[in-house]
Amino acid sequence: MGCGVSDGPALRALREDDLPFLERLSTDPDALGPFEWPGFTDVRRNRRRWEEDGYITPTSGMVAVTDAEDTVVGMVVWKSEGRGVPTGVTYEIGIALLPEHRGRGLGTKAQQLLIDYLFDHTTANRVEATTNGENYAEQRALEKAGFTREGLMRGRSFIGGRYHDTIMYGLLRADARPES
Ligand SMILES: CC(C)(COP(=O)(O)OP(=O)(O)OC[C@H]1O[C@@H](n2cnc3c(N)ncnc32)[C@H](O)[C@@H]1OP(=O)(O)O)[C@@H](O)C(=O)NCCC(=O)NCCS
Repeated sequence: MGCGVSDGPALRALREDDLPFLERLSTDPDALGPFEWPGFTDVRRNRRRWEEDGYITPTSGMVAVTDAEDTVVGMVVWKSEGRGVPTGVTYEIGIALLPEHRGRGLGTKAQQLLIDYLFDHTTANRVEATTNGENYAEQRALEKAGFTREGLMRGRSFIGGRYHDTIMYGLLRADARPES
């Protein structure tokens, strides 16, 4: 997959030479930021997973976010796991940009590209995202991409030695979306 505009970010499938980027996400706490670092994970799993399916399945995926020079600046993920509704109706998305590429509008645009991709290429009716109650950059990015803030789940996550609230965002296929 390669989608995007010539002067902005694009989404493309992960390649073998992107494995060092994935390794950085697994080993550098700053790479995922204060709201997403889950602790150390097995870096060897990245290559195994890439060789198995390139991080793409019929109901989930992870692709690189690249800048105009095709440098990998981050990644986006999606999955539809049913959870009581038919698979393919609701997709959950996520994003992480490397610290040196944040705050320049790339996160908003990359999530807009992913939303367009899901509504264009899957039968999704709803795209949803959750974020930490203190992650104001992601909350604002989701709102700029057209998401509605639907609720606050108290004390739902644990990171950095304490419990955190989680904000739920949703976007329906029929909802108005800003131009990406
Ligand atoms: C969250 C993230 C994807 C946002 O992408 P980004 O490219 O940094 O954000 P953008 O430049 O698109 O900015 C989006 C909005 O948030 C605002 N913003 C950016 N950083 C902010 C901060 N630290 N505090 C408050 N607002 C902030 C911007 O000003 C902009 O709003 P505006 O246009 O009204 O001024 C990115 O910072 C990131 O990957 N962070 C680490 C991983 C993470 O937290 N992922 C989200 C998991 S749910």
